[in-house]
Amino acid sequence: MTEEKLPIFTPEFWHERLISARKRGHIHVAVYDVSVAEWERVTAYIKEAVLRYVKPGDKVLDAGCGYGWLSEVLPKDVSYVGVDGSPHLIEEAKERFPDKTFLCEKLEKLPFIDKRFDWAVGSSIEGVIIENISSLKWLQVEAELCRVAKKILLIGYGSYKDGYYFIIEDGKRRKV
Ligand SMILES: C[S@@+](CC[C@H](N)C(=O)[O-])C[C@H]1O[C@@H](n2cnc3c(N)ncnc32)[C@H](O)[C@@H]1O
Repeated sequence: MTEEKLPIFTPEFWHERLISARKRGHIHVAVYDVSVAEWERVTAYIKEAVLRYVKPGDKVLDAGCGYGWLSEVLPKDVSYVGVDGSPHLIEEAKERFPDKTFLCEKLEKLPFIDKRFDWAVGSSIEGVIIENISSLKWLQVEAELCRVAKKILLIGYGSYKDGYYFIIEDGKRRKV
């Protein structure tokens, strides 16, 4: 009998991943089930990409922030807000980074005024949403990120292998 998988993007799915990550002593497993070495490679690439664009003083939305690791690698005086739909991941983020702001919200309907942020950074959210829900859901999320942020930086965990990521500005997407 094959084990039934919890549908992705329910709170239970991410809770189960978090429990498994804690048991294994590797918190990154909550968002990406790979070896420590692979996680280090992926996050080094994401850090480099983010630090190339996000500058001190910027207002940054970490869209689909997971347990919030990105909050620690941004320049110190960035104004950071992390948002995720998983209440358990948001609790984990708050415990790990108590001086940062984290909110449990849906990316397709965010509680922010227009252009509140200089950047919305999305690390491994686009592909995950398209593959597990639909392209239409992603378009809703993208439209909402474009509403609340001046620029959007999208990076996939697999991107470092291909050496590119995307910036969306004024509704136009470019590969960088
Ligand atoms: C693969 S994880 C990436 C987490 C984080 N960006 C990182 O790199 O560690 C994808 C995250 O997106 C969040 N997510 C996906 N769709 C979402 C939505 N519609 N609203 C809010 N969060 C969402 C999930 O809860 C999950 O934490």
